[in-house]
Amino acid sequence: MTPLLELTGLVKRFPVRDALGRRAGAVHAVDGVTLSVAEGEVLAIVGESGCGKSTLGRLMLNLITPDAGTVRFAGDDLTKLSASALRARRRDMQLIFQDPFASLDPRMTVEQAVAEPLRLHRIVPKDQERARVADLLSRVGLRPELARRWPHEFSGGQRQRVAIARALASQPRLIVGDEPVSALDVSVQAQVVNLLSDLIRDLGLTFVLISHDLGVVRHVADRVAVMYLGRIVEEGPAAQVLGAPRHPYTRALLAAVPGHGEKAPPLEGDVPSPIAPPPGCRFHTRCPFAEARCRAETPDLDAGPHRVACHLADRLPPPAGRPARLAGGARLQRLQSFFRAPSPQPGVPQ
Ligand SMILES: Nc1ncnc2c1ncn2[C@@H]1O[C@H](COP(=O)(O)OP(=O)(O)O)[C@@H](O)[C@H]1O
Ligand SMILES: [Mg+2]
Repeated sequence: MTPLLELTGLVKRFPVRDALGRRAGAVHAVDGVTLSVAEGEVLAIVGESGCGKSTLGRLMLNLITPDAGTVRFAGDDLTKLSASALRARRRDMQLIFQDPFASLDPRMTVEQAVAEPLRLHRIVPKDQERARVADLLSRVGLRPELARRWPHEFSGGQRQRVAIARALASQPRLIVGDEPVSALDVSVQAQVVNLLSDLIRDLGLTFVLISHDLGVVRHVADRVAVMYLGRIVEEGPAAQVLGAPRHPYTRALLAAVPGHGEKAPPLEGDVPSPIAPPPGCRFHTRCPFAEARCRAETPDLDAGPHRVACHLADRLPPPAGRPARLAGGARLQRLQSFFRAPSPQPGVPQ
């Protein structure tokens, strides 16, 4: 079966300039990503902040242009489509942001916000607009009479529901959710995740879930791709990647999740700068198993349904066999904070 979305050798670098505006290098945000998403599949992209997840999400929807590589959607190379063909394709691909304020115009009522894509893509005749908006609102668990309200009158969770209704309005085939619940109060996160997961199944959507929260990912993903400094280091069925991780980085991420059974050495140090990523395996500066080869040779993803990019993957000791080495308090806290949602904004009801 041809995948709905097929990324090949994607590269995106952002120029870095010095104080005089001269080009002084580049951030290697995405560096050679090859990945495909089948129709109806939920793919999660996980990794620490700054590893290139949002950049990859924007590349997938052709919202930014890659420096190299191709993005094929339903067989079309998006980077080669004419402007009008790309506009027509836009209705098939929607993005949901972390912060619904970023996707909702404060000067539009909920009805206007949800109706806008209906009109833009001529989804229903004008006289059916109001009924369709009501239908979309009820699909996301909002009462249709809320349609005349303004975004600021809603709680964070309700606003994200409006953003989801707006994303669904054009009847897309693919939705990319960039940390769609991370800004929400923890108690609301599960409700919105459940809503998303029900909608994905009911509507047969293809969904790319970008998240640093492995708890959320475990809930909905069919497949998981783990990113580190612009590259995919492990990818495969969710049960295998989360249940039997092959990359030392994935193991460390899982070990940092409170309550997870995974035993792994603690993650040392900070993420290196993406302006000068380490040579060889990018993870070698923090990997407890690194050898000389890891410092010199960049590992590629191997073949198979559960792929890993690690020279040592087949020689690593089984994680369960290792005694739990407790990290120091401060480090443990830092690790755990990778996976904790940022605190909700003060004064904003969720
Ligand atoms: N528009 C931009 N200009 C310059 N650097 C950027 C831009 N967008 C992202 N970056 C940099 O690219 C890297 C990856 O960022 P991002 O894709 O946002 O990561 P993530 O979503 O995983 O946190 C970071 O170092 C970030 O600072
Ligand atoms: Mg991001």
